[in-house]
Amino acid sequence: MKTWTVIELVEWTTKFFESFGILSARLDAELLLSHVLKKDRLQLYLDFDMPVFHPHLSTFRTLIKTRSNRVPISYIISSREFMSLSFYVDERVLIPRPETEILVETVLGSQKTPCHILEIGTGSGAIAISLAVNQPTWEITATDISTAAIDVAKHNTKQHQCEEQITFVTGDLFEPVTELDTLKYDWIISNPPYIGTKDINTLTTDVKDNEPEVALFAGYSGLDIIQRLIDETPAFLKKEGKLMLEIGHNQSQQVQDLISSNPAYKSYSIIPDLSGIDRFILATARN
Ligand SMILES: C[S@@+](CC[C@H](N)C(=O)[O-])C[C@H]1O[C@@H](n2cnc3c(N)ncnc32)[C@H](O)[C@@H]1O
Repeated sequence: MKTWTVIELVEWTTKFFESFGILSARLDAELLLSHVLKKDRLQLYLDFDMPVFHPHLSTFRTLIKTRSNRVPISYIISSREFMSLSFYVDERVLIPRPETEILVETVLGSQKTPCHILEIGTGSGAIAISLAVNQPTWEITATDISTAAIDVAKHNTKQHQCEEQITFVTGDLFEPVTELDTLKYDWIISNPPYIGTKDINTLTTDVKDNEPEVALFAGYSGLDIIQRLIDETPAFLKKEGKLMLEIGHNQSQQVQDLISSNPAYKSYSIIPDLSGIDRFILATARN
């Protein structure tokens, strides 16, 4: 029987994934094999000529099948990197996206003093935890409507040892926050669900069949949650406090109209993602 080496397995699996139309075929092949062999990708490169035997080989085969059924790689390996930190993820939470790092970097780059931040819709906790790890004096309140997501976020908070900095509450947008002592925040941030149910067929199978619906969709046009956040935020912001939201690729004009027609905001700017698409709105409260 043939003995497979690491490089042969990576190359065979890459071709197999490509035949299923998986765009990140090579990366996924490497991540899967790294996971099975419990090595990081650098170590995998160093061990390219190493033979792989049973039981690793049969586990790898099973996981290849799972990925070819379009289960996202991050759910298979239960891990995703965000802001150079590793987060546990599973089907209870959205997989953090690279563009969302711009939200975290913008807050870290703009706020130089201790502050209190409210994150709405924390999911895996990636945003709140990245802020906490980078700024140990900041206090963060993180909410989600999904108790299952909050369980994942709490697990990640423990992994990154920032339990003291983050308070988790569960409920619909600001509803659980009104019961807390801190009613006014320096920043309110959110990567809310913003896909319209009308656009469901534009999503890949990986996303639409695996990621939680509550993390993706916000009404027919996708603006339901963003609109509520823009309306309800001013009551919870300190004077000149900031609201920063991630938005959909085609929502910039509508979101600008919502902010500019609301007298509670004194100014705003639009921030693009790395592809140059308007992806975030950063607004400053008047009072
Ligand atoms: C797009 S995901 C973002 C998750 C995470 N912050 C990230 O960037 O990876 C949106 C999150 O908002 C939560 N959510 C949806 N509707 C909500 C609501 N009405 N109130 C609070 N959270 C909500 C979802 O459960 C989900 O975790």
